[in-house]
Amino acid sequence: MHLLTRSVRFAINEGVSAPGRNGYAGNPPVSGFGRWLELVVTCRGTVDQATGYLIDIKAVDSHVRNDAVPLFQQAVASGEDPTLTLRAVAQILATKLPVTPQSVRLRLTPYHDIEMAPSDPSYALIRQRFDFSAAHRLHSPALSDAENLKLYGKCNNPRGHGHNYIVQPVVKVRLDSHPAFSLVDLEAITDQAVIQAFDHKHLNEDTPEFNVEKGGVLPSVENIARICFGRLGPAIAAHPSRPTLESVTVWETDRTSATYPG
Ligand code: NI
Repeated sequence: MHLLTRSVRFAINEGVSAPGRNGYAGNPPVSGFGRWLELVVTCRGTVDQATGYLIDIKAVDSHVRNDAVPLFQQAVASGEDPTLTLRAVAQILATKLPVTPQSVRLRLTPYHDIEMAPSDPSYALIRQRFDFSAAHRLHSPALSDAENLKLYGKCNNPRGHGHNYIVQPVVKVRLDSHPAFSLVDLEAITDQAVIQAFDHKHLNEDTPEFNVEKGGVLPSVENIARICFGRLGPAIAAHPSRPTLESVTVWETDRTSATYPG
């Protein structure tokens, strides 16, 4: 089996949108203060031996532009919750495409998206990115000073060093829940449980979770992701709609990230 992912970019503008020629940047292109959106369609299946295709991406593009974009235009005009719009879009794409998408993911901003599986449209995944700046030092009490220096290198610097961490929780929500778990809820919980706890701190010295000498764990990116998951999970589950935290991804740099649970 293969996965095939196709992203379709488009804008919802005031009034009628002129057709564009640039699918890379978005078609229709953004006009004035129009909303730029990206719909990421992932299909799972077997590759046709004759064509080498799992699905013809031209079919994905045309059905998104001809069938889904009008739904987004109506939703913007009426102020509908994007999660409910995405459910309608997932259902229409599942009907029209020759391969039922495994997931459809609507990128509302570079940092925020919602995702749904057409096979289970009663749930959605909400992602949002946050950042915090912190210092840490990697130095294991289980190793000698020489072994620490050899393993961690510059990250073993005695006075620590800093990172601008990016944190992305993924929350699974029920669509028919009242009150719904919103992005405002996710921002408030993450700010209180993670950002306020770690931002502009020396993780080893200022936070008990990463104070190795007092029973904490080493502030590696793997452990930071797990600690963030542990801090966020109960607070998110306490919301009346009973959402669940699926995972947390932490980027230490734009080249290194860890996700827990994996
Ligand atoms: Ni580091």
